[in-house]
Amino acid sequence: MKVAILGYGTVGSGVFDVIRQNHAVIEKRVGAPIEVKYVLDLRDFPGDPVEPYLVHDYRTIADDPEIDIVVEVMGGIKPAYDFVKEALLAGRSVCTSNKELVAAHGAELIEIARERNINFLFEASVGGGIPVIRQLMRSVTADEVEEVSGILNGTTNYMMTRMREDGISFDEALADAQANGFAERNPAADIEGFDACRKIAILTSLAYGQQVDYTDIFTEGITKITSEDVSYAKAMKRGIKLIARSYAKDGKVYAMVSPMMIRKKNPLYPVNGVFNAIMVRGNMLGEVMFYGMGAGKLPTASAVVSDVIDAAKHRFVNIPILWSREKLTLGAKDDMECRFFVRVAAADADKAKEIFDIHKTVELADANGEFAFVTKTMTEKAFAEACEGLPIISSIRYE
Ligand code: HSE
Repeated sequence: MKVAILGYGTVGSGVFDVIRQNHAVIEKRVGAPIEVKYVLDLRDFPGDPVEPYLVHDYRTIADDPEIDIVVEVMGGIKPAYDFVKEALLAGRSVCTSNKELVAAHGAELIEIARERNINFLFEASVGGGIPVIRQLMRSVTADEVEEVSGILNGTTNYMMTRMREDGISFDEALADAQANGFAERNPAADIEGFDACRKIAILTSLAYGQQVDYTDIFTEGITKITSEDVSYAKAMKRGIKLIARSYAKDGKVYAMVSPMMIRKKNPLYPVNGVFNAIMVRGNMLGEVMFYGMGAGKLPTASAVVSDVIDAAKHRFVNIPILWSREKLTLGAKDDMECRFFVRVAAADADKAKEIFDIHKTVELADANGEFAFVTKTMTEKAFAEACEGLPIISSIRYE
């Protein structure tokens, strides 16, 4: 089996290393050797073991009939979409870690693969090295999925952990995540929540079998979280995590990405550093959790290569994936319900007590003239309307 890798960045070089280092065990599992024939990248890598395989023009790969499997790890939509579609149309299976591509074009690419009895596989697009997609597709099949929620971005979880535990600044934490190869090329994708948004769109599409448009998902990142918020969370024995969540309620599916103050007994509370965790709740199964390295070169590459092995073992057999092009219309954000942690100036305390139905107030030793409280459960719409009535210092959804 001959493989072409599109992209020699963090994940691409990891895939190259995993296939070479683990070739013996991979051959045993597939029943035939897997060989990298080409690696596509615009750059040169003098002295790197990739040199003999390096090509700069996709046509070299497209025109070579020996290529069985294409690994797309370039990221982004252009030109990845064109290359992947062409490969599938030519009867080659494709394995990708590209969540942007899968979230935007997953249904179409799955359909092309199905029609040609080949495979479009994307295990590494969600949760880095965690085998969650395979489990959703092939194991959680007897249930109606009631909820999928989790920590789906390693960079932000790493940053929040370091800020809380080591007291480092937001910028220092981001630079550290970038140095470790966790962050996206444009870190706004991580810190603004877009990456987690695409991942929950993929999981929700798989859970409900229809196309979720990621632009329909309300998404808030971690950029407004301050060290004061972290101190309040500590005082309440809670953690602030960027939570991506979708759930079914009264025949509708709702989805959101936002920071949330979660309880200590929530299984996501101890998920720290670059680790991700995904909880799936089925109506028969109850809750199952998937936990592991959510980003990083080798864990992500390991997930990509597990797809290469699957594709090699199913050369002209399509592995069914239930994800149709029919759009899944999400329930309105306004109707979603939550409690909210809110900080206002102490001078506005009376007004806040008038406007909000307060569940409890929160005292902090050095509160700096603030009044902080947690609301009772209310709709997003009611909360937004209430906030128009007084200046809010910060607010965070509260489990
Ligand atoms: N930037 C992503 C993260 C990489 O931090 O989770 C893995 O998708």
